Amino acid sequence: MNVDPATLEIVHFPAPILRQKARTVDPKDENVRAVAQRMIELMHESEGIGLAAPQVGLDWRIFVLAGLEEDEPDLVCINPSLTITIPEVTMREEGCLSLPGIHVDVRRPDGVQLDAHDIEGDPFTISDRGFRARVWQHEYDHLEGKLIIDRMSPMAKIATRRALKELKAAYRE
Ligand code: NI
Repeated sequence: MNVDPATLEIVHFPAPILRQKARTVDPKDENVRAVAQRMIELMHESEGIGLAAPQVGLDWRIFVLAGLEEDEPDLVCINPSLTITIPEVTMREEGCLSLPGIHVDVRRPDGVQLDAHDIEGDPFTISDRGFRARVWQHEYDHLEGKLIIDRMSPMAKIATRRALKELKAAYRE
């Protein structure tokens, strides 16, 4: 399972890996750590706020999160699990590095707890509501093979049809 982090790049819809359920990894593995580190770089290069392993072509249960405030560190989440703490749903527009040019309104529970292992392989638990909770759920979806286009309204489906078609055409080239 050794992967050269330098070979990783962000893949776009409709890459089949984006539809796979990712596998649990060893949070103490050196290679896992190196890949997570590279994912953080790729996320920043693409000006993203989160990136999941399937988006770099790996069926590994890892996502990385950018610090959203000045002194907030980036965070690596290995083998994460989510628990809904506030089931009331809110709607907000989301984008995705694997779906360039597509922005759709997505409804999600307002609050969640996130349990995962960090870059050192140590377990941690954090809990939040609002925007951060939304980002965590978006990234977690990637590990389950789910994308924002699976969660959009029938109206949004029509509105994004052309953009999705273009992505499909670009992928075949
Ligand atoms: Ni995404």
